[in-house]
Amino acid sequence: MWNNFIVLTVLFYTLRFIDGKTQFELNFERSTNRIVITDYYYKLEYSVIRDDREIQSVTLGTGPGGFVKATKSPHGLILSGRGDEIEMSIEVDESGYSQFSVTRRNIRQLFISNLDGIKRLILFHHRTSTEDCVDLGNATKVNWFGGNQQRHQYYPIQNMTHKHNSYVTKAVQNQAIAERYWLNSNGIFIRVDNDAPLFIDQHNENEGFMCLQAKRALPYDIYHRSFDFKYHVGIGLNARDAHMQAVKRFLGKPSGHPDEKMVEQPIWSTWARYKRDVNEGVVMEFAQEIINNGFTGQLELDDDWEICYGSLTFNKQKFPDIKDLTDKLHTIGFNRITLWIHPFVNKNCEPYYTNAKRKGHFLTNRQNSTDTSWWNSEKNEAAYLDFTKTEVSKWFHQHLTQLLASSGVDSYKFDAGESSWGPVDFILNATSNEYPMKLTSDYVRSVSRFGSLVEIRSGSATQDLPVFVRMIDKDTEWSLDNGLPTLITTLLELNMVGYPLVLPDMIGGNGYNVEPDKEMFLRWLQANTFMPSLQFSYVPWQYDQEAIDISHTFVNLHAQYTPYIMERFKQAVMTGEPVNPPIWWIAPKDPIAQEVNDEFLLGELILAAPVVTQDAVKRDVYLPAGIWEDGNTGEVHNTESGKWIRDYPAPLNILPYFIKK
Ligand SMILES: *[C@@H]1O[C@H](CO)[C@@H](O)[C@H](O)[C@H]1NC(C)=O
Ligand SMILES: *[C@@H]1O[C@H](CO)[C@@H](O)[C@H](O)[C@H]1NC(C)=O
Ligand SMILES: *[C@@H]1O[C@H](CO)[C@@H](O)[C@H](O)[C@H]1NC(C)=O
Ligand SMILES: *[C@@H]1O[C@H](CO)[C@@H](O)[C@H](O)[C@H]1NC(C)=O
Repeated sequence: MWNNFIVLTVLFYTLRFIDGKTQFELNFERSTNRIVITDYYYKLEYSVIRDDREIQSVTLGTGPGGFVKATKSPHGLILSGRGDEIEMSIEVDESGYSQFSVTRRNIRQLFISNLDGIKRLILFHHRTSTEDCVDLGNATKVNWFGGNQQRHQYYPIQNMTHKHNSYVTKAVQNQAIAERYWLNSNGIFIRVDNDAPLFIDQHNENEGFMCLQAKRALPYDIYHRSFDFKYHVGIGLNARDAHMQAVKRFLGKPSGHPDEKMVEQPIWSTWARYKRDVNEGVVMEFAQEIINNGFTGQLELDDDWEICYGSLTFNKQKFPDIKDLTDKLHTIGFNRITLWIHPFVNKNCEPYYTNAKRKGHFLTNRQNSTDTSWWNSEKNEAAYLDFTKTEVSKWFHQHLTQLLASSGVDSYKFDAGESSWGPVDFILNATSNEYPMKLTSDYVRSVSRFGSLVEIRSGSATQDLPVFVRMIDKDTEWSLDNGLPTLITTLLELNMVGYPLVLPDMIGGNGYNVEPDKEMFLRWLQANTFMPSLQFSYVPWQYDQEAIDISHTFVNLHAQYTPYIMERFKQAVMTGEPVNPPIWWIAPKDPIAQEVNDEFLLGELILAAPVVTQDAVKRDVYLPAGIWEDGNTGEVHNTESGKWIRDYPAPLNILPYFIKK
């Protein structure tokens, strides 16, 4: 399977001291793919070669480097030097797909086997930057996809900056999903094993690189851990091909999909419009307005309906008879009512807090403290339910099952779940290498049992769950700082890390600073039309009759395409294909298509090109190769290699979209 390590001629050995390098090579038999490892003495680097062209290079940071020895292993080779060891193994060798793994060992041994305080610290620091640095494409332009959900969701993702970012689910920067998967336009993906304590550093200490760092540091388990750092590199024919291999071998696919009801008619949430000022009267008035204006769907009662946070019990002052309210809502036409649920208990919320604490339901740290904070508590005035404990999951599930029965509510919106909400240095019912992400995955797995009307917002290797994953709260902004354009880029990011069942956040954004004006509201609705579900909170009748009319047009257009959305959901369940891929999905080698960040596909037939720029009444639209019918005018565009339509007219009532013939 592999060519004996270097073919080092005497001449080459000699040259090593002149131009300072030695090379080793690993060959795939069923393709022209090769891996060439070069020891430059001061650094070690490997390159992936396809058809004699380098398509990717990775620097093995502070690995051995210099005077490296190579020995044969069953499927590859082991490079060793300076007490460190790197194993490179061929894992898959097929004609259209190659895969190898890189395993770095003895990292921890190096931390602790050496020396006294100061020197050890230096070594630790040195080892902290033990990292494999992936060239993001400097010499030849390469586009990167995948990665983590972020506030500034650039797309493609090579421009994003990360400073030693702990690669876990966390509230900071909206990182509620952080799958260890990156894919590029050359058809290469990198997948880091979930048990590596991973940090990423991009355009920070090494401009032009994304460095994958393994580090024994919080929020990972810092006590018992000796870790391997292993990742896999897949080489497909193109990005689409490579991605489908990654789905099959690593990412997985949903085991089912959300109920058609959540797709066809909008969700109407109380959150953005009313925030915490909700009660029976407000909900009834909101509901009546929705019906009076000719809409219907799902009514979602968001924050704040409890006696106190964590009681999971209706506040009777605000909701004297919840069953009566839900009955009325069903009767006037809402086919489901959902309720906002969070996994926190606030300290002043008695007797619920004391009871749960006594039962040991809270996430506890090594100082035996359960104190933590969230957005509805003061500092250290709350606790976080620990779903890695079987008892907590059981109790929560039982309680919420009873609540469904007694309240007439149909399902739940499950908030939070990120691993960052616990007290620092917490203890989990988990093995060392499951820290801290088991907190997230056990929570979302537990609550997803409530079925096909559920939404969650965080996840960790939970692509198999059959429920909607909501984007983290978007801001009422026109910018890439978590504003309207990121509705599209976040959609693409989530789809390309294996979460195709994406629930876009509320139309118009959350209005945390300002409320959306009519233009933003309608542009947001249009951008959302060919995404899986429409979620309103601000309403068209806050503006004028034109806003109501335009809203009906797009709510109807979404309903009209619901059968196709459901078909794509089923396809995602079958094959793991994205529901809303980037437009390069149907033209993987088209460099223009790869960079378009304000268009997206629904399945493979609909291309949406919403206006996401303030005051714009036209936009350029890029169509990849194909025959496309303009969804507005019926005009047909036939292009063999892709083309731009310049200045496509798009006044406030127009969403540019095209149907592939
Ligand atoms: C990414 O960086 C390139 C080069 O610096 C720049 O031209 C491009 O506009 C950037 N894209 C985004 C989305 O920031
Ligand atoms: C990228 O290319 C520029 C110009 O060729 C060069 O100066 C720079 O060092 C390169 N950066 C990396 C990270 O290779
Ligand atoms: C930790 O807290 C629990 C519950 O408050 C208490 O029963 C236990 O004794 C404490 N343990 C330590 C080591 O302080
Ligand atoms: C810890 O987790 C395991 C496996 O997930 C589970 O079987 C066990 O009941 C849990 N222990 C506790 C105390 O909840």
